[in-house]
Amino acid sequence: MSNHDQHESSHKSVKRKEMSRRQFLSYTLGGAGAFMGAGMILPMVRFAVDPLLVKKTESVFVKVVAESEIGNEPKEFKFQINQVDGWYESEPQIAAWIARGQDGKIYALSPICKHLGCTVNWNTQGDNHYFCPCHGAEYTVDGKQLKVAPKPLDEYQVKLQDGNVYLGPIIPNTRV
Ligand code: FES
Repeated sequence: MSNHDQHESSHKSVKRKEMSRRQFLSYTLGGAGAFMGAGMILPMVRFAVDPLLVKKTESVFVKVVAESEIGNEPKEFKFQINQVDGWYESEPQIAAWIARGQDGKIYALSPICKHLGCTVNWNTQGDNHYFCPCHGAEYTVDGKQLKVAPKPLDEYQVKLQDGNVYLGPIIPNTRV
């Protein structure tokens, strides 16, 4: 191998791949653009999922009526709850049918029909049933469905304290 060849081969082995000015610019601008984009998008994503990140607080119970007013015949009581739906906070008035069962326990049923969500009423047909006027669903005094509706009426969680009845979240019926 001549001196010239040796020089050429050693020159080839140390040849580095250089970045062109165009590549450098596109990497730099791309990186800066991605950084700024993330800076704008991340707060939006955080804002969108914020309600999901909020820790659930303990169930809230609302004082509805004195225990002494509750007998075996269901009575309707209306009360207000504080409802937070995402960012929307409201205080709707809702109803419960409250009675004392054969077991002596006080229970409260939701008036929302399990067929399509109309409101049931107690004993409007004179047969000691809950009746839904929309499509004729009927339920027993404990909320068990007798016709049309596929499920029993839901219950409220009940807490008794200082002689008063407090109602909490709605749960599936535990009596039937
Ligand atoms: S909504 Fe009650 S029977 Fe249909």
